[in-house]
Amino acid sequence: MDMSAKDRIRIFDTTLRDGEQAAGGNLNVAEKLQIARQLGKLGVDVIEAGFPAASPGDFACVDAIAREGLDSIIAGLSRTREEDIRACHAAVKAAPRHRIHTFIATSPIHMQHKLNMTPDEVLREIRFAVSLARELAEDVEFSAEDASRSELPFLIQAFRTAAEAGATTLNIPDTVGYATPEEFQEFCRSIIEGTAAPDNVVYSVHCHNDLGLAVANSLAAVHAGARQVECTVNGLGERAGNASLEEIVMALKTRSDRYGLASGLDTTKLHPTSALVSRLSGIHVPPNKAIVGANAFAHQAGIHQHGVMANPLTYEIMKPEDVGASGTELVLGKHSGRHAFRSRIEELGYVLTPDQSERAFALFKKLCDNKKNVSDEDLAALIADEILLTSIENLYDLKHCSVKTGEGPALAVITLGNGQGDISDAATGNGPIDAAYRAIRRAIDLEPELLSFNIKATSDRSDSLGETTVILRSGGVTAPGRGVSTDVIESAVKAFVNGVNRLHVLASAKGVELGKKSENHYE
Ligand code: KIV
Ligand code: ZN
Repeated sequence: MDMSAKDRIRIFDTTLRDGEQAAGGNLNVAEKLQIARQLGKLGVDVIEAGFPAASPGDFACVDAIAREGLDSIIAGLSRTREEDIRACHAAVKAAPRHRIHTFIATSPIHMQHKLNMTPDEVLREIRFAVSLARELAEDVEFSAEDASRSELPFLIQAFRTAAEAGATTLNIPDTVGYATPEEFQEFCRSIIEGTAAPDNVVYSVHCHNDLGLAVANSLAAVHAGARQVECTVNGLGERAGNASLEEIVMALKTRSDRYGLASGLDTTKLHPTSALVSRLSGIHVPPNKAIVGANAFAHQAGIHQHGVMANPLTYEIMKPEDVGASGTELVLGKHSGRHAFRSRIEELGYVLTPDQSERAFALFKKLCDNKKNVSDEDLAALIADEILLTSIENLYDLKHCSVKTGEGPALAVITLGNGQGDISDAATGNGPIDAAYRAIRRAIDLEPELLSFNIKATSDRSDSLGETTVILRSGGVTAPGRGVSTDVIESAVKAFVNGVNRLHVLASAKGVELGKKSENHYE
């Protein structure tokens, strides 16, 4: 579809910023780079890469993404403080096209209880922040946090102030997911009419999903004139998440009769992008999730199956191949060569350096000794866990793990390398994984709390790989961990060790000390 700028919806992806704020979502720089590259291939207009002033680690991630030379605009978030705005600019400026996204709350409840500021002070902050950002960058977005609970006349004043100071995008967030579609459409229309910003200014919308209305509210705002939608892959995000990118994009495409608008995205990349984000974030996609869930195109009822066989349009409003869910899985085996291997991992959304690719190929060949057929899921799990996870500096590596089960409690013996030598310990527990986790805690003299634990098979077959995800916490630091192996116990042990390594990386980035074990109660 040939579309003018007025008919085009810009997709602003905030998976790496708002999405990453979801529980336990601490992606490392290698993982964020993979996601950013895939978002670039998908064709999103803007990638919000992070919040550079939040920590040196966040700054480094945004800077690394900015240096990738992607076609998408790279944005960073910043409060209205001078140091935030300067840090944001420093982090995004290497990108050929970059944006400073600054925000402040405009609702009475936020101004009074969070900011402790009068409305006049907030207006002064907006003028200051947007003017400074415009001195540094041509592309500046202003967001009025909690816009949907703000008073309309004040909100219009806030947006006018931002537009006068040079903002090129004005964003209307439903921060707490409180809006309903009809009301929000009216609200956005009134803002757009009332602000009457110059023609080059784009109105944007950013909806949270607390009432399950984020996508509906975003589309209502589009009806009112918004031409940028902020969203995340798989709807990832704080609390109930953000508007789901794939749902917005496919609603615009499937119902172009209704909207007459299009995003420029390559929708056949939606499925691989969703799988990549789900695997790297450790947050699984429910099977009934629209567009990207495992059952989104599965027809169970006999009457439906009959209809679909006669003519797919009887029950299918989109074709699975339109979203990259063709279901034809290429299975690789020990005779597959480098070329087939490389093109398959690229189709799965991974872009590896030549060195990573060689290592991955060697691991794949090793896996073929244990498994006749290596599926897409096996391959993606292998890359995510063996290549991306090892890109962080590991304090510990797993040297040996053996478990004994049978009558009575299980017994685990663990050996870890710590760069200076080997440390070993043993413990009993309620099953082999519990015993192994207790042995690791003893060996490292640290008691990370296990907040979440999940083991998943990469296929329905008994020769499947086991993929474990955990979320650990210690000393106020939370980190995810992942592990994969044909042996499920080993996958669980690897995940715990990986979580511990990530806890150390995050703790040192934050300058905090992980809580030491006070007394040994894991006997
Ligand atoms: O939800 C929100 O209000 C935000 C803003 C910072 C855009 O994420
Ligand atoms: Zn948000």
